[in-house]
Amino acid sequence: MLQSRRGFFDLLAGVRTDQDVAQWLAARGHEDYQAQAAQGTTARTRPTLPPGVKAIRISSNENPLGPGKAAIDAIVRQFPEAGRYPFNSTPNEGALAAAIASKFGVKPVNIVLGAGSQEILKSAVRAFTSPAKALVTATPTFENCTNVAKRLGHPVVEVKVDSACRLDLDGMAKAVKGAGLVFLNNPNNPTATLHGAKAVEDFVQRVRSESPDTVILIDEAYHDYVTDPSYQSAVPLALKTPNVFVARTFSKAYGMAGLRIGYAIGPENTVKPLARLKMPYNVSVFGIAATMAALNDPKHIEEEKARNTEVRAFTVKALEDLGCKSSESQGNFLFTDIGRAATTFRDDCAKQGVIVGRDFPPFEKTHARISLGTMDEMKKAVAVFRSVLRPVTTTAGRQ
Ligand SMILES: Cc1ncc(COP(=O)(O)O)c(C=O)c1O
Repeated sequence: MLQSRRGFFDLLAGVRTDQDVAQWLAARGHEDYQAQAAQGTTARTRPTLPPGVKAIRISSNENPLGPGKAAIDAIVRQFPEAGRYPFNSTPNEGALAAAIASKFGVKPVNIVLGAGSQEILKSAVRAFTSPAKALVTATPTFENCTNVAKRLGHPVVEVKVDSACRLDLDGMAKAVKGAGLVFLNNPNNPTATLHGAKAVEDFVQRVRSESPDTVILIDEAYHDYVTDPSYQSAVPLALKTPNVFVARTFSKAYGMAGLRIGYAIGPENTVKPLARLKMPYNVSVFGIAATMAALNDPKHIEEEKARNTEVRAFTVKALEDLGCKSSESQGNFLFTDIGRAATTFRDDCAKQGVIVGRDFPPFEKTHARISLGTMDEMKKAVAVFRSVLRPVTTTAGRQ
């Protein structure tokens, strides 16, 4: 089956049958997975939906509404610039770094742009860990750093979250002596839990005193969704503390996961090694235009946060009514004790068109990560959860 443009044109020219066209359309976007599967290297499988079932995709912590209007208008306006490299376009990548810097009252040298914040995370592991300098991280947490370090053969210390699924900051601090990098995800994906400003500051001071050369990366991908008043961004702390920086992304509340823009912000000397590892022209002209427009549209983020907060409260309660408790969520996703294996829950949901998150060891036998879609999507998803989970609530006597 061809998924190339050429393949599509062949189909249109009548070389293939209607059934081929349907299969071609269904296969679009899955080419990597198919190629990986063919090579036996599939990192994760995607559930197959029955034919004709429309997907509710609540598996990747995306903003279901996508970018705001200002950003979309900016992308459309940018099409004539598609032939330019990002340093030649208007606005260019320097303008974006300057716009982000000015939002925080710092200089562009304090900012490193990434193709999504994953580029920043990956570069941090390459820059700061080594066979002699470990990565200290949590489990479960966002696994990008863990996977990169393991692939490089660098040691990784994974500290399990506590019984409330919160990062074990004490356990992590005890492991930092001589480490190259500490990864602190706040709120933490997949558990959605948060640490307040005081706890983060105490952790940073403790790491600094026990292991001053260890770099601390605080990943605030879900910053815009936090409603807990004890929280404050660690950006001001990072800017005044050597060896501390924050990673941010436009993939979540800003709704631009497909545009791939993230950044690091921190002291110049701390983020400089990341700039050295950056691929040239790593952000696209569309991403630059969209994020610049979005930075001037804070109302969109306020509305998105309010929307998510309402959907979050609805879904937490609906799952609780089914006997399934979620850890305290401060993101656009829930980590829920469904009392059964995530795999079979996921497969059962997929049969009815609802795609939820993958396994998150060591909780894969009990918990599922459920991203939050629109209210309408979550009402439909909850009906599916009810039908899928009902046998568990009756036979296992879950309350
Ligand atoms: C905690 C965390 N950090 C970083 C990312 C990567 O985001 P992106 O590369 O799209 O900016 C994600 C994506 O899910 C995430 O959950």
